[in-house]
Amino acid sequence: DSLTEPVCLEDFESYARQNLPNHAFEFFAGGANEETTIRENVEAFKRLRIRPRVLCGISEVDLSTTVLGEKVSLPIGIAPTATQKLAHPDGEQATAKAASKAGTCMILSCVGSTSLEDVATMAPESVKWLQLYVLSSQEMTKKIVKRAEKEGYKAIVMTVDATVRGKRQKDVRNHSFLLPHLMNIPNVDPAKMADAKRSSDFEKNKQRGSGFAFDNFAKTLFNKSITFETIDWLKSITKLPVLVKGILTADDARKAVQHGVDGIIVSNHGGRQLDCVPATIDVLPEIVDAVNGKVEVYVDGGIRLGTDVFKALALGARAVFIGRPAIWGLAYKGEEGVTKVLDILKEELEIAMILSGIIQNLHIL
Ligand code: FNR
Repeated sequence: DSLTEPVCLEDFESYARQNLPNHAFEFFAGGANEETTIRENVEAFKRLRIRPRVLCGISEVDLSTTVLGEKVSLPIGIAPTATQKLAHPDGEQATAKAASKAGTCMILSCVGSTSLEDVATMAPESVKWLQLYVLSSQEMTKKIVKRAEKEGYKAIVMTVDATVRGKRQKDVRNHSFLLPHLMNIPNVDPAKMADAKRSSDFEKNKQRGSGFAFDNFAKTLFNKSITFETIDWLKSITKLPVLVKGILTADDARKAVQHGVDGIIVSNHGGRQLDCVPATIDVLPEIVDAVNGKVEVYVDGGIRLGTDVFKALALGARAVFIGRPAIWGLAYKGEEGVTKVLDILKEELEIAMILSGIIQNLHIL
């Protein structure tokens, strides 16, 4: 931790690697199987080249835009990630505060370690979306959606690529991933949580090291047979816009639009679910093309530099979301760390926009 001030996002990851407990770092950093897709997400960005136009007279740029009609000051939001309190005791509240100060959008994970009410209290003004794993119980799912509506969340983000968990070798080697005993998943029904904790898998895991088996929780509660009709159902129980997160093909994007989604997040869950799927930036163009302007298209996965954000915008993303970089910021210095991560990305994006001379503001895209 003798780190000098971080200069780029990778510096935050180095800090987290050295300072978080190994099982926590590996839970955040890791992905499915051989982590081919994790590497690909980052490398695909690095393969893309920018063709700059010079003598454009651009000396400043405007990063503000809208997401689903809500104003944000930059096209870089926070992707939903579970149990942020494992990175820093302030967890999701610190992330929400940093996102709010930066004027950007945060997606709260429904399996976050902070209640959606507490996040809303901490950042009442900012644009917040709630990520949802559709649960086996329609009643429980409905309850979460209603709570989000009541607290002023502006959209529901239905994650579609995680009906079962990807096989994450690091977590398996670390004896499955065990949340500390006191950490809770407060957005899901507490009684059902207690059931999940009581189940036999949990008892077994407890003997190995005590704690709450996250895997087991997902196995017990998530609906593993969601379909496109589940989107219709979700649309029927809420007035909020519904986005799907985890689309990787043009066909699925078209189908999602037919089922009335209000937005699509091109994502492979940061390479944590099905390994060997393509990098998100590589499939973004075909999806943007298929959607043909009918709804907004966003992308996450592997964004580590302002030039990555630039490339995603140039290829048709309305905005991008960052997952792990925000966690590394949290690990570094809580709210201040996340703020720093956003500041660095923002500055790098501004430089890329000015020097490439193509995009002066996002309203023309
Ligand atoms: C995730 N992601 C995720 N997605 C989701 O819809 N619900 C969730 O609860 C989580 N949890 C989660 C935990 C951790 C530790 C990570 C790293 C990721 C996926 C996340 O929203 C996003 O798709 C990726 O993190 C984007 O890739 P990068 O930015 O991490 O490369």
